[in-house]
Amino acid sequence: MDIYAVINQKGGVGKTADTAGLGGALAEKGERVLLVDLDPQGHLTAEALKMPESPDEATLKMAMLGEWTGDVRDLVAEYRPNIGVIPTNLDSFLLDRGLYMSSGREHRLARLLEPLEDDYDVCLIDCPPSLGASTDAALMAARRREGHRGGLIIPVEAEDSSIRALRLLLRQVGSLQHVMGTEIDILGLVPTRFDLRDGRVVTSTLDAFRDLGTPPVIGEIPKRKDIREAWRSGVPVTEYAPESEAATWFRDLAKAVR
Ligand SMILES: Nc1ncnc2c1ncn2[C@@H]1O[C@H](COP(=O)(O)OP(=O)(O)OP(=O)(O)O)[C@@H](O)[C@H]1O
Ligand SMILES: [Mg+2]
Repeated sequence: MDIYAVINQKGGVGKTADTAGLGGALAEKGERVLLVDLDPQGHLTAEALKMPESPDEATLKMAMLGEWTGDVRDLVAEYRPNIGVIPTNLDSFLLDRGLYMSSGREHRLARLLEPLEDDYDVCLIDCPPSLGASTDAALMAARRREGHRGGLIIPVEAEDSSIRALRLLLRQVGSLQHVMGTEIDILGLVPTRFDLRDGRVVTSTLDAFRDLGTPPVIGEIPKRKDIREAWRSGVPVTEYAPESEAATWFRDLAKAVR
């Protein structure tokens, strides 16, 4: 199983929509997909996929903090035959605080996912909009591992402030690599939710991203009604509107990632 973190500490940039859309596109390609809702807001679970929360007896937060030690497969809910989801629970707002008091906190998500290694081809982690302990755990889960692909997928807004947010994230990644003595690959940026009608502004920001060179731009997901409606229906856009241009964008992203 290759692990990718869909990450940006900036809020509302399209992390969750991209996770759901990309997950759908990868599953359509025949991959067995695992989606992890690491954001206490629970938007992936409750909104994008319209799934029930994890039962209070066994949650991702409890598993990561060692408060529940059952089989991690029991945390996975089936969304589609080839898409499993580790949903959120209301207790997840306590995860970061709990992690700060725990030893080996950075490794806890990676360890938790280990038993699922052969059950799925690809795992996407929908990260919270913060640079806290759970985000560090997601970065470590997506670190470079021999014989595996994986890494970071970074949705970005086509705005000037996005460059600063991106620098901050790259700093965090750099410092974690240094402290943990590991390598974390950045697959690239996915400008998301920009309005194609905003022509000049968007073009200049997209150019600024492209000019950065690293990380490269690996896909583009403009604002589109089909994506919003798919989200409302709790269905990936590749399934909601398979013939749409939006579905094509996610298929192209899936190709760029794998
Ligand atoms: N390409 C798009 N076209 C139309 N609507 C979109 C698109 N991408 C995201 N959205 C919508 O914009 C809103 C914010 O997107 P999303 O929740 O994916 O961002 P996020 O980065 O996960 O936010 P947060 O930081 O709060 O977790 C959602 O309502 C989502 O449905
Ligand atoms: Mg989100």
